[in-house]
Amino acid sequence: MTDEKQNAILPPGQELNRRAFFTKIGLGSLGIAAAGTLGFTYEFLSPNVLYEPSPIINAGKPESFAVDSVTMDVNAGIYLVRAVEGFFALSAVCTHLGCLTAWNPELGIIKCPCHGSQFKRTGEKIEGPAPKPLPWLKTWVSDDGDLMVDRSTDIPALQFLRI
Ligand code: FES
Repeated sequence: MTDEKQNAILPPGQELNRRAFFTKIGLGSLGIAAAGTLGFTYEFLSPNVLYEPSPIINAGKPESFAVDSVTMDVNAGIYLVRAVEGFFALSAVCTHLGCLTAWNPELGIIKCPCHGSQFKRTGEKIEGPAPKPLPWLKTWVSDDGDLMVDRSTDIPALQFLRI
């Protein structure tokens, strides 16, 4: 087929010969390859960061906790205890293999569902394979009067927060 026959179906002024056709196909392919390369390069060079939640927990107003109460924050993995002596926070993560423990109000103890470790509400181990007590966590009152807990900072046991 000659170029004249091919161009017979195109409007005047838009004649397309074989060379122009393959040039356009080639440029189009190069454009797609360049876009793909740029996309992969951007993905490769962007930082691959995992954002962890803050270890600081705002537990709310101290007066919302009844005296002699144990409140578990399942999402944060902590217990907030208001004892007669003051407030304290415990990690709810078992020191054996890291299961989330649960407060048993009938027995007044913290139990681990995985291998049966039991703790007093002060975190002290009663029985089971857990090698250590549940750690006490740093607590303080914010400028707004909220009870704050730092899950990343352990403190010695029996350091009550008196408000
Ligand atoms: S993880 Fe709690 S007793 Fe094993």
